[in-house]
Amino acid sequence: MRLILLGPPGAGKGTQAKMLQEKYSIPQISTGDILRQAVKNQTKLGKESESYMNQGKLVPDSLIMELINERIQKPDCQKGMIMDGFPRTIEQAKELDKLLNKKEIKLNHVLEIVLPEDEVVLRLSGRRTCKNCGNMFHIKFKPPKKDGLCDSCGGELYQRKDDQEETIINRLKVYTDQTAPLTKYFKKQNLLRSISGFGSLDEVFNKIIKTIEKSA
Ligand code: AP5
Repeated sequence: MRLILLGPPGAGKGTQAKMLQEKYSIPQISTGDILRQAVKNQTKLGKESESYMNQGKLVPDSLIMELINERIQKPDCQKGMIMDGFPRTIEQAKELDKLLNKKEIKLNHVLEIVLPEDEVVLRLSGRRTCKNCGNMFHIKFKPPKKDGLCDSCGGELYQRKDDQEETIINRLKVYTDQTAPLTKYFKKQNLLRSISGFGSLDEVFNKIIKTIEKSA
């Protein structure tokens, strides 16, 4: 199964992608996570991407396509993949189509998680991420058992630089201008299904599963 999760920053794409990865045993490909790791390791990609990310701007398409091209060739993507935060521009979507066509494989689902801006700001400003394993928490909606520490590995929790309110506003604008047009693009291909991001983690997950199974 090849699935794209669309939706504004903070809609819950990463959270749901991790749950889907577990259920279907296919990898989550998060361009955001790959880029943050590159920044942490100060690789060439990381150095080139860092300032865009800190300002809430998109990293140039050419850099993203290079990393995606490399990632989807890996053996764990043979059975399928969950694309989280990619594609983010029409250009990226067209390039993805070309890549998949070359491999003679098709996309199965594009799921858009819909959430209004005030809820996005609430979710992102309370998000905490594990420095070690990347697990996500929320100070109110999904608090860790021990303050400031990851439930899974005990790693330190931190607040992402781009989760400051000013940058969140900028990321929302970038989403509206550059990523939201993808809904039309995938609607034309009859792949788009929209799901409300309201509800508990499990409620949203169940809506996603139902939608996938209904349109399988
Ligand atoms: P990226 O990491 O992809 O960030 P994003 O799309 O802005 O999405 P987020 O990770 O912020 O949110 P999410 O929807 O995954 O929500 P989450 O599950 O964490 O990208 C970061 C940057 O990298 C970009 O700005 C750009 O610079 C660059 N980049 C990445 N990909 C790129 C690309 N393809 N092209 C160009 N540039 C790219 O949930 C948020 C919080 O809410 C968490 O605390 C969670 O616990 C909580 N939560 C989740 N679900 C619920 C629920 N149902 N109820 C209550 N709380 C919930």
